[in-house]
Amino acid sequence: MPLRPTHPLVDGRTTDSALVRAYRGDRPEQTPVWFMRQAGRSLPEYRELRARGDMLQACLTPELASEITLQPVRRHGVDAGIFFSDIVVPVLLAGVEVSIVAGRGPVLEHPVRSAADVLALRPLDPAALDPVREAVALTVEQLGATPLIGFAGAPFTLASYLIEGGPSKDQIRARALMHSDPHTWATLLNWCADVTGMFLRAQVEAGASAAQLFDSWVGSLSRVDYQRRVAPHSKRALDHLRGLDVPRVHFGLGTDRILPQIAALGVDAIGIDWRLPLDEASAAFDHAMPLQGNIDPALLTAPWSVLAAHADDVLERGRRPPAHVLNLGHGVPPETDPDTLTRLVAHVHGDRPEHD
Ligand code: CP3
Repeated sequence: MPLRPTHPLVDGRTTDSALVRAYRGDRPEQTPVWFMRQAGRSLPEYRELRARGDMLQACLTPELASEITLQPVRRHGVDAGIFFSDIVVPVLLAGVEVSIVAGRGPVLEHPVRSAADVLALRPLDPAALDPVREAVALTVEQLGATPLIGFAGAPFTLASYLIEGGPSKDQIRARALMHSDPHTWATLLNWCADVTGMFLRAQVEAGASAAQLFDSWVGSLSRVDYQRRVAPHSKRALDHLRGLDVPRVHFGLGTDRILPQIAALGVDAIGIDWRLPLDEASAAFDHAMPLQGNIDPALLTAPWSVLAAHADDVLERGRRPPAHVLNLGHGVPPETDPDTLTRLVAHVHGDRPEHD
């Protein structure tokens, strides 16, 4: 089933937006910019709304999720909204007990570690995604010509949380299971691919104009393990978008060893973390892949002149790929001064009243 005629990419609202053009390999006059984790604790208006309740509950309350998504778009004038949700939302909707602990991240009371644990996982009922569809539809209605990015966690990153029971440094237990019980591993990653793929598809069908897969913890894998035991499942997650003509974006941390394997997933654009200069990353794709990134989030607290010079360097290196979407190399740190982000957006858009 293709995108509906009222989808913003089909009715023309976002078709020629700078973000969509860049993801498709065109170079718009102004470099589009948005920030991973632009919604969230760096914004006082977010902290005020969230003070009333639980993070995952907020994700499943359409009016609230929509309002939080719109906050950074209004405040900073970024070129895209990213849907306010979390990678564990589809896992929760499939019946797994998971909560988000402030300052830590997703935590499971009963981690998934044995073959029996994996067999006990239930498929995700598509109707459970209705609050997600509703929140996306509400948001897109208000965004007009500004595209909404839908997102999902990649199977490896999701499985790492399920197996470890929370955030972990090197995903040791996950990598051990991969080798000690490859069959259970494959079953778990297929389950993750399907719940996360359905979550992503629901957002796109409801109006998202791009889809980003986050494989945050993929940097702990060897190239061979990624290729054999992880990439096929990422592909399966993305396959849930079949028939939907929407740009697909991949982001991971520490991906320099596996860039060709990521390109082979069939994505339209690739996000790079702050450690690899964009011109070097671009060379790994023979300068044929649109790139996204990669301001070092640590520099958001540096003096403005230092940050502006770094942003200019990123923009300069971003001229090597066919197109560039400016972003951070990872999410906005919660202690970031929101005015710095607003100023950065204006700077990237070429608005430099102070000749800075
Ligand atoms: O603005 C946006 O980027 C949209 C929303 C978004 C959130 N999580 C909201 C959130 C997105 C895209 C995510 C993805 C996500 N969640 C990833 C992949 C991206 C990445 O950062 O690598 C991962 C690994 C998670 C898991 C997760 N959820 C973590 C590590 C945390 C942080 C815990 C903390 O308090 O430091 C969360 C919670 C979370 N997700 C928050 C937000 C705004 C903070 C929760 C709060 O407000 O209390």
